[in-house]
Amino acid sequence: MTTRWFNHAPVLAAETVAILREVPAGVVLDATIGGAGHAVALLDVAPQLSLIGIDQDEAARRAAAERLAAFGDRARVVAGRFDALDSILDECGVSKLSGFLFDLGVSSPQLDVAERGFSFRLDGPLDMRMDPSAVLTAEAVVNTWTVDRLASAIRIGGDERFAGRIAKAIVAARPITRTEELAAIVVQAIPAATRRTGGHPAKRTFQAIRIAVNSELEILEPSLRAALARLSTAGRGVVLTYHSGEDRIVKGVFREVTTSKTPVHLPVPEVPAPYRLIRPITRTPGAAELESNPRSRSARLRAIERVGVAA
Ligand SMILES: C[S@@+](CC[C@H](N)C(=O)[O-])C[C@H]1O[C@@H](n2cnc3c(N)ncnc32)[C@H](O)[C@@H]1O
Repeated sequence: MTTRWFNHAPVLAAETVAILREVPAGVVLDATIGGAGHAVALLDVAPQLSLIGIDQDEAARRAAAERLAAFGDRARVVAGRFDALDSILDECGVSKLSGFLFDLGVSSPQLDVAERGFSFRLDGPLDMRMDPSAVLTAEAVVNTWTVDRLASAIRIGGDERFAGRIAKAIVAARPITRTEELAAIVVQAIPAATRRTGGHPAKRTFQAIRIAVNSELEILEPSLRAALARLSTAGRGVVLTYHSGEDRIVKGVFREVTTSKTPVHLPVPEVPAPYRLIRPITRTPGAAELESNPRSRSARLRAIERVGVAA
């Protein structure tokens, strides 16, 4: 069960499992199986569940399949992007879900292998594709997007206040082919006084370009809605986000589906909303987790449950 070559610590694992282990018997979808840390922890304590895990990264799928082998036919790992979850579940013959998990963003091995091009600390090609067979690379984004498009991507995906300056500096320095070059250009574009605060100055820009390369924000809302639509009564969903852009999307969708649509000014009985928010005691990593896994720093957990009559 060690699979040492794929080293990723699952974030908020105890909190996630505590929520998902309560669901009725059936199938749970892990839309971002990664190294299967959450999946193993859940299957270990919830004998009523089986699991389908999706990942677009071949290395993650191999690690997950290895770790899940002990669960036999209770676990299956499938290649794909989670916006194809409807067709993936249909092909697996699964119409309803007892639960789902989206643990968004990248895994530690993606960041730690220089050749994948995700890291501002390790020199590598400007790649950043979670699915190495996908067409769009970071090199294409950095070298072909207009200043405005780059600035907007860096602002939205990185919450970067110097997005405009950084985008202009990138365009002026083209062609750029290595992560080390890009990191240096970004650092130079940020005013010296600001560079010393808030971690590595290139971190936010690298995050934003990765988000653009993998269409992370565009596909999140439709994928969440698809997973919610498949939840059976008392089924639950957990989403772990790692930056404000994705958290806003999850919060918006969850708020909408947990709000009753009955107009308050009409004398008609209220139709309850089909889902309710689960408010866990812990939504962010505590001191012990932050100490053992600093990469969990920006994590935030949101959870939801389907209520009412089975659809
Ligand atoms: C944070 S890691 C998940 C870690 C996992 N929960 C664990 O415990 O090991 C995110 C994983 O999701 C995958 N991923 C991210 N976005 C995806 C998408 N849209 N479709 C499929 N996989 C995705 C990444 O390749 C990565 O392996």
